[in-house]
Amino acid sequence: MTSPGTEINRIYARDDRAGSAFLLRQRGQLCGERQWTYDHCLRTGGLARRFALHLGASKMAAENLGLAVSCHDVGKMAVSAEVLDSTNGLTPDERAMVRDHAWQGGAMLRVSCQPLARLAADIAENHHERWNGTGYAQKSGADIPLGAQIAALCDVFDSATSNRPYHAAAPAYPVLAGMLTARRPAFNPALLEPFVMFCIDDCKDQLAPWQVGDLLAKVKNPPCSPPHSTRPFPSPGVHP
Ligand SMILES: [Fe+2]
Ligand SMILES: [Fe+2]
Repeated sequence: MTSPGTEINRIYARDDRAGSAFLLRQRGQLCGERQWTYDHCLRTGGLARRFALHLGASKMAAENLGLAVSCHDVGKMAVSAEVLDSTNGLTPDERAMVRDHAWQGGAMLRVSCQPLARLAADIAENHHERWNGTGYAQKSGADIPLGAQIAALCDVFDSATSNRPYHAAAPAYPVLAGMLTARRPAFNPALLEPFVMFCIDDCKDQLAPWQVGDLLAKVKNPPCSPPHSTRPFPSPGVHP
């Protein structure tokens, strides 16, 4: 089986300047209009780029993957700011509008036929899919494009550890511990463990020694039978 880094290189190593320019324009629409989403997209793309380098991807492939991941929420341009910023919980209709951002984003990015734009569209459409089939369209396992599997990890981590109008930022430790326990089945195990190791290094100034020890123990000793999540993730009302 090829390593994730080799696979990222196979998919993302191509130089595509027209595709990159298109993605920067699409992402730029969020700036000022949906500012916290824009900031989240930049951070999530940066996490994906650094994680790809950690996995051994080339600089070019990591840059391309990071840019594509940074466009994962462009579909939120189609969701009103009032709904995105709501602190009162969402009605079922509003929740459906928020969920639709994945497909709206895919449609916005498929306007271009450039290869990197197509890869970014795949990520936008699939970044809420979960390895165990509990995502928006209930795809599972390797049916989820690799870029979207990586986007899901970075998206969940950044969403939980940053301030939103409807929740305060959580510290890195409980978020990573949760990803290794209750949320573990949502992620590709071949990516989750390297992602946590990457985050331990990337966030070392935010983690106490005992927290690093506990995370390493959880990486090395996964639960014998991971708890099965029976409800869609993320929780209702939370929209990464
Ligand atoms: Fe997101
Ligand atoms: Fe999203």
